Amino acid sequence: MARNKRIDSIVEALKGYHTALDIGTDHGYVLKHALDQHYIKKGIASDLRKQPLEKAKTLLKNYPVDFYLTDGFLSIDQPFDVVVIAGMGSHTTIEIMKQRLDTQADFILMPHDHLHELRAFLCEHGFVIDYEKIIEDRHFYTLFKVIRGTMTMSEKEMYTGYHVIKDDTYKKYIKKMMAHYHALVAKTHSEKQAYFTKIERYFMEVLHDIHD
Ligand SMILES: C[S@@+](CC[C@H](N)C(=O)[O-])C[C@H]1O[C@@H](n2cnc3c(N)ncnc32)[C@H](O)[C@@H]1O
Repeated sequence: MARNKRIDSIVEALKGYHTALDIGTDHGYVLKHALDQHYIKKGIASDLRKQPLEKAKTLLKNYPVDFYLTDGFLSIDQPFDVVVIAGMGSHTTIEIMKQRLDTQADFILMPHDHLHELRAFLCEHGFVIDYEKIIEDRHFYTLFKVIRGTMTMSEKEMYTGYHVIKDDTYKKYIKKMMAHYHALVAKTHSEKQAYFTKIERYFMEVLHDIHD
């Protein structure tokens, strides 16, 4: 059964909720493991494509899960107290969240790119990042637990993270990001180079602060 640290971290974050809506469920493992461990009582699985949804239906046969072939929230007509949107880009994640800006449910998000854009969107639309956690599972992933409220953040936090759990994995992640931006600085010029230099410096400062 496909289990890995990435999926496990999402499942762990669902502990104590009643009904989880998993948008872009694909294989359905998140709901399966959360139900197997009695972390949640019910699941709603949605996917844009028929084939993944069929996979999830097979995996979750006889589980308390309802299935929707739909774009994001569009056809979801029942209550939920937490929404999972994982394994998509931030732009898709944001487009889906915009469909239901009025929801009071919490979100567990794990986008794979443009994290600063997601953080900016959350600031501007009445969300608070309760915590971010870095997961290392061959690649680095950022899990966001998001609740309703208001927050402001600095540009540095926009790029390096907000309310991040500062464990050893975060330190490794910061070093990897520093190396990433260092390489970009080396192969760019003028405005772009200045931009990458600034972000590299943000990560260096965070690492310095953690070591203090
Ligand atoms: C890479 S998979 C991620 C699966 C799972 N959430 C995970 O994190 O392992 C992305 C899934 O999201 C679905 N998807 C993409 N855009 C979507 C949308 N707007 N609404 C619902 N599902 C979507 C895709 O069809 C695909 O099954």
